[in-house]
Amino acid sequence: MMIVLIGYMGSGKSTVGRVFAQKLDTTFTDLDERIENESNTTISELFKTHGTIHFRKLESKVLRDFVENNSEGVLALGGGTPCYANNMDFLNASKVITIYLKLSIPELVKRLRSQKAHRPLIQNISDAELPEFIGKHLFERSPFYNQAQYTINCNYKTVEEVVLELENLLRQVD
Ligand code: S3P
Repeated sequence: MMIVLIGYMGSGKSTVGRVFAQKLDTTFTDLDERIENESNTTISELFKTHGTIHFRKLESKVLRDFVENNSEGVLALGGGTPCYANNMDFLNASKVITIYLKLSIPELVKRLRSQKAHRPLIQNISDAELPEFIGKHLFERSPFYNQAQYTINCNYKTVEEVVLELENLLRQVD
């Protein structure tokens, strides 16, 4: 079975996904990394040189190719992946388990304040404006994230604690 982790930037999809995949003794794939490998450039460069629409099209193509050609493993999406190109409909029509790693606005602000540089969508947002930006952005995106089959509340939890919850969840699904 393929497990797909979704959530806002900074929600721990990649960090948690890596540890979880190790525990399950399966492969871990980061969609952003796959996009970077396939396009031979960085996500920041892609946004800068080709713009958002090009990125979203590529992201959707790489996602679909991957899900259609793999049946196992843990896949971490980009924060925006579920919100474009009917990707969430596609995932929910596929044989995958979608899990939303949910964090509150203050928790996301705390995590993202120090990680703006390599994130094209927030790198020009000042620290003062970050809470409002994330609040609005999350409001727009939540309807997509909430289409995940399962949600894990990750506030104040360590990576290990979230992984434990994922393991418990999977046991209930089996
Ligand atoms: C994006 C999130 C990023 C990356 C790109 C766009 C978004 O992924 O795909 O910068 O729209 O939220 P992470 O959530 O892994 O940072």
